[in-house]
Amino acid sequence: MPEHEPLTPDDLQEIVSQTFLREVQHFEETGSTNTEAIESLTTIPATETPALFYAESQTAGRGRGGNIWWSQPGSLTFSLLVDMSELGLTPEQQPQLSLLTGLALLQTGQTVLPRADFAVKWPNDVYLDGRKLAGILTEVPPQSNHHAVIGVGLNVNNEFRNAPAELQQTGISLTDLSGQSHSRLGILKTFLQHLDELLLKLSQGEKVLEKWPDYCLLSGKTVTIQAGPNNIIGTCQGIDESGALLLNTNTGTQRILGGVVVSWE
Ligand code: BTN
Repeated sequence: MPEHEPLTPDDLQEIVSQTFLREVQHFEETGSTNTEAIESLTTIPATETPALFYAESQTAGRGRGGNIWWSQPGSLTFSLLVDMSELGLTPEQQPQLSLLTGLALLQTGQTVLPRADFAVKWPNDVYLDGRKLAGILTEVPPQSNHHAVIGVGLNVNNEFRNAPAELQQTGISLTDLSGQSHSRLGILKTFLQHLDELLLKLSQGEKVLEKWPDYCLLSGKTVTIQAGPNNIIGTCQGIDESGALLLNTNTGTQRILGGVVVSWE
């Protein structure tokens, strides 16, 4: 039986003392940790960043494109509020935050299940064995263009056989593959350490996405992207250093900066 023990405020304080976080807010239940993080910017005194907004349970979890994020006990749902200027990042680097977060989640998964098949699906999902393991929703708060909120939903000890029927074939958790319980505290800590390392490298001008081709779920596949009213179809050539998806289309190579991946085969 996978572990569903809640993380306590003390557990989270331990994480603050061991990672780059400066503040943490713990919720037994809230609508959305992304919304909590955004709204925290209007409170006085201001939230110290990087700050973690952790919820044991969300009642209105949000995904990209207005989708709902379904979660259940045993998963991890949290958001990070970061000040990009404090981290030495420019607003132009903001689109790379989702990819870096995906890479940090992938590295975290590899520490737990070293032989498993992890991949990052541009621009904001992490896959395990061809199914979605984690989703990332990065938002820029309306109050400040140098802050960013990075929301993460990661399936750890929740089992997809208990999920709504339409998700059972598309989602997966770590425990679904391993058959074991995993320490959510340990996973959260490891993720934050990887993300800290990647953000530091990005701010120092290192090529953090260099290893990308090894983990890009879409590489070599025929991909359809919905970008505004148009669909763009092409063969994925990977990701460039700025985080754009490279598609070989019949009019040449296109750099895709945003959009929804409709299909890949
Ligand atoms: C997606 O797959 O479209 C992104 C899902 C992001 C879900 C997380 S759960 C924590 C944070 N709070 C939210 O409301 N959404 C993100």
